[in-house]
Amino acid sequence: MTKVRKAVIPAAGLGTRFLPATKALAKEMLPIVDKPTIQFIVEEALKSGIEDILVVTGKSKRSIEDHFDSNFELEYNLKEKGKHDLLKLVDETTGIRLHFIRQSHPRGLGDAVLQAKAFVGNEPFVVMLGDDLMDITNPKATPLTKQLINDYEKTHASTIAVMEVPHEDVSSYGVIAPQGEGEHGLYSVETFVEKPAPEDAPSDLAIIGRYLLTPEIFAILETQEPGAGNEIQLTDAIDTLNKTQRVFARQFTGDRYDVGDKFGFLKTTIDYALQHPQVKNEMKDYLITLGKELEQAEPKTKD
Ligand code: G1P
Repeated sequence: MTKVRKAVIPAAGLGTRFLPATKALAKEMLPIVDKPTIQFIVEEALKSGIEDILVVTGKSKRSIEDHFDSNFELEYNLKEKGKHDLLKLVDETTGIRLHFIRQSHPRGLGDAVLQAKAFVGNEPFVVMLGDDLMDITNPKATPLTKQLINDYEKTHASTIAVMEVPHEDVSSYGVIAPQGEGEHGLYSVETFVEKPAPEDAPSDLAIIGRYLLTPEIFAILETQEPGAGNEIQLTDAIDTLNKTQRVFARQFTGDRYDVGDKFGFLKTTIDYALQHPQVKNEMKDYLITLGKELEQAEPKTKD
């Protein structure tokens, strides 16, 4: 059986939800306290045994390449000043086997993944979406990507991570129609539907940005017609793949942080800060004081 050793991180999105911050800065570089969101994804990949990572980028994304490159001047400076702790942090971002390719036209997630065809070759691989951070406040948890790889080692099949979301939110996601009850959180799937209206959604189990795919997905993506939002959808290609080979869904039970959304980003920052050795105590005290102040404040007038 081929080992799963390659990951693809689509990072070509324009980040319009975070304008103006993302006008010149890659949204993947927005930090949660002191770490760019893409670094959490790269760390999850490495912890899962991934050896090579392809980042599919677009315009204004140069800072991602620079972030994972060595910075001689900075390293020299930190060494000179004896700042070994900071040097260690900088070291953590270098020496990783990262590769970059540009998606010249943003045609959708399916098209972004298709750019990885030559990189992936004929091997199973994972796709990791940068807007979804998993279990970042629980370093002891088995990374979701690793869970998918463990599943693959047993089934040899593509496996997509899903999670139950509130029914009214399903139209923001790919949604599965599960077959039966599932066994230990692993479901056979009847269909995969991209962004259904709540009344048409076959379940509340939503795709959450981690995919283990067999390479047969590429032939399907090559002829995939645009779907929801007039974009080439990965979900549609997975639905087609499921008709010729089994595709499973793995239900995630950990903590998912949606950093692609403004409020989600703020919540992630607070949760992560509450675990961060340098700021956790101050953050906790601040939140307690703030909570008290808000409780005492005048009740909001109704609209
Ligand atoms: C993408 C996928 C969707 C998935 C979601 C998870 O949508 O197309 O199936 O549920 O990521 O975050 P996007 O958020 O890019 O619109």
